[in-house]
Amino acid sequence: MLILGIESSCDETGVALVDASGPGTPALLGHALHSQIEMHQAYGGVVPELASRDHIRRVLPLMATTLAQAGRSLQDVDLVAYTRGPGLAGALLVGAGVACAIAAALGKPTLGVHHLEGHLLSPFLSADPPTFPFVALLVSGGHTQLMRVDGVGRYELLGETIDDAAGEAFDKSAKLLGLGYPGGPALARLAEQGDSQAFKLPRPLLHSGDLDFSFAGLKTAVLTQARKLGDDLAGRRADLAAATQAAIVEVLVKKSLAALSQTGLRRLVVAGGVGANAELRLRLNQACERAGVRVHYPELHLCTDNGAMIALAAGLRVQAGDRAQTAADPARAYRFDVKPRWPLADLAINP
Ligand code: KG4
Ligand code: ZN
Repeated sequence: MLILGIESSCDETGVALVDASGPGTPALLGHALHSQIEMHQAYGGVVPELASRDHIRRVLPLMATTLAQAGRSLQDVDLVAYTRGPGLAGALLVGAGVACAIAAALGKPTLGVHHLEGHLLSPFLSADPPTFPFVALLVSGGHTQLMRVDGVGRYELLGETIDDAAGEAFDKSAKLLGLGYPGGPALARLAEQGDSQAFKLPRPLLHSGDLDFSFAGLKTAVLTQARKLGDDLAGRRADLAAATQAAIVEVLVKKSLAALSQTGLRRLVVAGGVGANAELRLRLNQACERAGVRVHYPELHLCTDNGAMIALAAGLRVQAGDRAQTAADPARAYRFDVKPRWPLADLAINP
């Protein structure tokens, strides 16, 4: 079974084709990605209307590239998957509309995929895939969550951020340091030349005893430090970047380890854009080795948004017995909606 996947929830248009025939993990046959980062940079963040328009421009050419890479044609596709949410409503509608139109033209079923489920399952495409059950640390631009994952569609929320996401903390602190958008990679690069001990920044909720996070206060502390430094900030930016990264990373590592000991699980999966952060990977690897826990990451290029994780999640759901919207009743089958907000815990397999 060949599954075409389309991702358009935010500022990346991604298309991928996977082969989900047989019981093994779906195989990635081709994928193509266009990042809008350059376009949004001038505005310091994602402009939703521009994002939607650019998805429209990119999605069909990316689909052609993907199919050519895989040596297949659209007629070979058995199911069309798309990101149904969460994300920007207008951006999601582009992927959903295109996916359902193509499926209608082909007379094939569709499946709306949860973006975070895509991130969560993306390590299954890596050379060192995990096995269930595991604890997942989901760290993206909009979400910071710890989940207990017992299988495809079996997700239990253990804790989450009560305000900003970890990616947001990176992005907002980077902005205060005069770095461009998206701030995470830029702040991480600058931090490499800094001394993380040079500033004392708060570790919010580190000792709260639960698995929740809070990052809004950290951004305020960075702002306060930056103001205090005044003209001296220019010479101390790398130190402040390193201290900020260290604060975010320490909280993520401690809470992940706490989730592992609370659940008794011995496996951790890290997913989402912040999962690309080298310092986070280093500290998690060290802490997990000490604790005797195996840790799995997506391939670096599949940490941030992409179509491969959407096609993969659709494939794994179908293999787990999920019923795609079929063409049996075309009037119903191709009616679609998007879910800009969508709790991950609602994703039980729908037989
Ligand atoms: O998962 P993602 O691509 O999009 C969302 O679904 O939100 O995550 C994007 C986030 C941004 O906040 C970005 O700054 C952050 O991931 N990010 C990083 C790194 N690469 C991406 N943060 C820290 N270090 C990185 N290397
Ligand atoms: Zn994402």
